[in-house]
Amino acid sequence: MPPRIPAGYAAAAGLLRERVILVTGAGDGLGRAAALGCAAHGATVVLLGRTVKKLEQVYDAIEALEGAPKPAIYPMNLAGATWAEHEELAATVERELGRLDGIVHCAAHFRAFMPLADETPRDWVEGLQVNLTAAYTLTRVCLPLLRRAPDASVVFLSDAAGRQAKAYRGAFGVAKYAIEGLARSWALELESTQPNIRINTYDPGPLRTALRLRGYPGEEIASAPLPETAVPDLLYLLGPDSRGISGAALARNSDP
Ligand SMILES: NC(=O)c1ccc[n+]([C@@H]2O[C@H](COP(=O)([O-])OP(=O)(O)OC[C@H]3O[C@@H](n4cnc5c(N)ncnc54)[C@H](OP(=O)(O)O)[C@@H]3O)[C@@H](O)[C@H]2O)c1
Repeated sequence: MPPRIPAGYAAAAGLLRERVILVTGAGDGLGRAAALGCAAHGATVVLLGRTVKKLEQVYDAIEALEGAPKPAIYPMNLAGATWAEHEELAATVERELGRLDGIVHCAAHFRAFMPLADETPRDWVEGLQVNLTAAYTLTRVCLPLLRRAPDASVVFLSDAAGRQAKAYRGAFGVAKYAIEGLARSWALELESTQPNIRINTYDPGPLRTALRLRGYPGEEIASAPLPETAVPDLLYLLGPDSRGISGAALARNSDP
């Protein structure tokens, strides 16, 4: 049986105490909720995103949480970031925080559903860059730090399009398909050499975020669950309760 997230999982207080977690797309949507959830459970969170004002708002919200460690803000536009800029991020985390225990890749580029034949060259490149290449590059430059962590976990956010080809998802859909393959290949490579690093994908299902609104502008937005409802699953995957699970394509725990 493929691994599943336990239904109704509730993270223990202090689950991520002493851990440093990097969250991409931390200014909005699921990334924002994940960052707050990690901080509330004791993690020092590195807030990576492209809109500084949004990151500052998340920073303030974390500072207002009782007992949460001070977070760090790392503005970065993943669409144009060079390899050297990714390496600089890893070097900064090492210098300022001394360790890294996990990454949650929530940053996403998606404009609208459209036929592949109509996608602009720019959207194609940006879609693969933000949704796939940056996630790979960030993980890769952070590997030396993750290797030193006793229990490291990398979570790539996926989508139903990651497991079953869907029409009109453009580069976004292709990237989700690829990220699931990337996660499984990487997990296989690490299982014998670095069993302390787990790599999984997670599909949260529909969430009430800006991305969902772009795809389904006519939908009653209140019908989708809030991003906070997916945070317990992410805490499960990041924390010690999911030790031993790697290379899995996990979905929201209410899925059949
Ligand atoms: N929402 C859903 O229904 C749903 C369903 C299944 C899977 N997912 C997956 O869950 C993940 C999070 O989605 P979401 O709904 O939270 O999306 P979202 O609300 O659109 O948030 C995406 C985040 O990524 C950031 N971002 C976009 N382009 C960036 C770039 N070039 N550089 C750095 N950051 C960038 C955005 O920053 P700005 O705020 O500055 O634009 C934003 O903070 C995605 O991987 C998505 O595919 C979502």
